[in-house]
Amino acid sequence: MSAVLKDVPELAAMREADLDEVVAVERAVYSHPWTRGNFADSLAAGYACRVLRLGGELLGYFIVMAAAGEAHLLNLSVATAHQRRGHGAMLLREAMGVARSRGARSLFLEVRPSNRGAQALYTRFGFRKVGVRRGYYPAFFGREDALVLALAIG
Ligand SMILES: CC(C)(COP(=O)(O)OP(=O)(O)OC[C@H]1O[C@@H](n2cnc3c(N)ncnc32)[C@H](O)[C@@H]1OP(=O)(O)O)[C@@H](O)C(=O)NCCC(=O)NCCS
Repeated sequence: MSAVLKDVPELAAMREADLDEVVAVERAVYSHPWTRGNFADSLAAGYACRVLRLGGELLGYFIVMAAAGEAHLLNLSVATAHQRRGHGAMLLREAMGVARSRGARSLFLEVRPSNRGAQALYTRFGFRKVGVRRGYYPAFFGREDALVLALAIG
């Protein structure tokens, strides 16, 4: 039985002790990663921070900030070796549930126009483009816009 359970990824609250691994994944999957301080600040602020693990291995994580009936998905990441296995979709579904449980009726997020994979995931969940933030992201040469996407979750 334990052999079966070992194969099931588990969600847990992100803790300070997870941050070495979280930052390692973050650095591997983004050209301009969050710092350890960004994650520590999110924990301290009480944002919904979750990790997905399989055995001892970190598969991915998300961070949701919810306030005044709105939630923002600040970070959603899956470790490179574990992408395209449904973990991102699972984390996104969980992020929607957490946002709803914190009273949000809409979930917003920003995504780079160049990030086609993430956009495909969000479109599949019904997110729609609601705006553009000019020069929002740092890029290798200058800045890159952010697409602002939203989904009604109420
Ligand atoms: C975006 C990300 C979270 C997706 O996680 P994932 O675990 O690979 O996604 P899933 O396996 O759950 O994909 C679910 C569906 O989303 C779509 N999708 C996800 N990644 C895709 C890609 N690279 N290209 C095209 N479609 C993709 C597909 O429809 C996929 O279903 P399918 O595999 O049956 O075709 C992951 O690629 C990642 O962490 N990327 C780097 C960090 C990042 O860009 N985060 C988002 C910032 S806004």
